[in-house]
Amino acid sequence: MGTTSPHRRRVSNWNCPERLFTKPLSKHSTGLKPTAMSTNLTTGPLVGQVVLITGSESGIGRETARAFCQLGAAVVLNGRQAERLECTRQALAAEGYRVAACVADVTNYADCEHLVAMALNRFGRLDVLITNASISQRAYFADMQPEVFRQVLDSNVYGSVYPLKAALPHLIARQGSVTFISSISALNGMPSGSAYCAGKAALANLAHTLRLELAATGVHFGVVHIGFTQNDPDKRVLDAAGQPVPIAHRPPRWQKSQAQVAAIILKHVRRRRRRTIISALGRLILVVHSLLPRLGDWVVLTSQRRMRNFYE
Ligand SMILES: NC(=O)c1ccc[n+]([C@@H]2O[C@H](COP(=O)([O-])OP(=O)(O)OC[C@H]3O[C@@H](n4cnc5c(N)ncnc54)[C@H](OP(=O)(O)O)[C@@H]3O)[C@@H](O)[C@H]2O)c1
Repeated sequence: MGTTSPHRRRVSNWNCPERLFTKPLSKHSTGLKPTAMSTNLTTGPLVGQVVLITGSESGIGRETARAFCQLGAAVVLNGRQAERLECTRQALAAEGYRVAACVADVTNYADCEHLVAMALNRFGRLDVLITNASISQRAYFADMQPEVFRQVLDSNVYGSVYPLKAALPHLIARQGSVTFISSISALNGMPSGSAYCAGKAALANLAHTLRLELAATGVHFGVVHIGFTQNDPDKRVLDAAGQPVPIAHRPPRWQKSQAQVAAIILKHVRRRRRRTIISALGRLILVVHSLLPRLGDWVVLTSQRRMRNFYE
């Protein structure tokens, strides 16, 4: 299955790195029982299920795709870079998984309609939508170009709303599942992350509202707040002028692996959880923000003074 899009197509000089052609995850990395680790496409517990994951050409999205594939699901991959997306599709197909790929910018509604139509044409149904595509930032609000703020916010809000709008009738038909990928930084806010935090926080309220509004449909709406996670070496975020820059320093000991995070997302979807907060730090932020918000702010401001490279 090739990559298709009726719209823009970004071309890069992407070469398939060896690391994409990894072995299936070990039982320890996924937290799954050995029987659930089958790569036999006819026997996994998710055989027959179709999963669409936006922004899955790289990072956590790619590893989440792999985790669903390992349980027998067919997965539709998505991203904006045709070559990198095709590289990821080939890597998963080479592992024996049922995957298709579709170039689409999820901030463009026509692209999202095309993405969903492609999933249906290829696999005939849609059971799970995970809105994972996102652009992050490394810029203080006062310095940010308004257009950059809009771009980051759009990728996180409309980048979830548009795929869902396009997919909703098909998800209702299957009493399917929708998971918005958010961040622990949405729980309290984070200096140098204004548009990103605002967008991620909006997703939690969106999920809650849709859960109420669409309760009769039986569709699951959930949010996963991800904490610090290892990143692909080429991951970029936007600076105040909209230029792609490497992500700010994160202490490695605070980071989960992408495979660990993928396994948690998989569990969240299978158990149809409303909210999953990844990491002890995330749960601590939630408690402090709810019960002792001034203490939470003091901790953030203190860390901002002492660990500037964490934010800048
Ligand atoms: N890594 C962390 O520490 C961390 C922490 C908290 C939350 N998260 C969340 O976890 C998710 C995955 O993050 P990650 O670390 O794996 O980042 P990543 O490697 O940058 O993955 C994001 C993916 O989204 C795609 N994307 C961005 N804008 C898009 C658009 N408009 N249309 C289609 N695809 C688009 C990107 O590809 P292109 O740019 O090529 O299109 C990329 O493949 C994100 O929602 C992120 O906010 C991550």
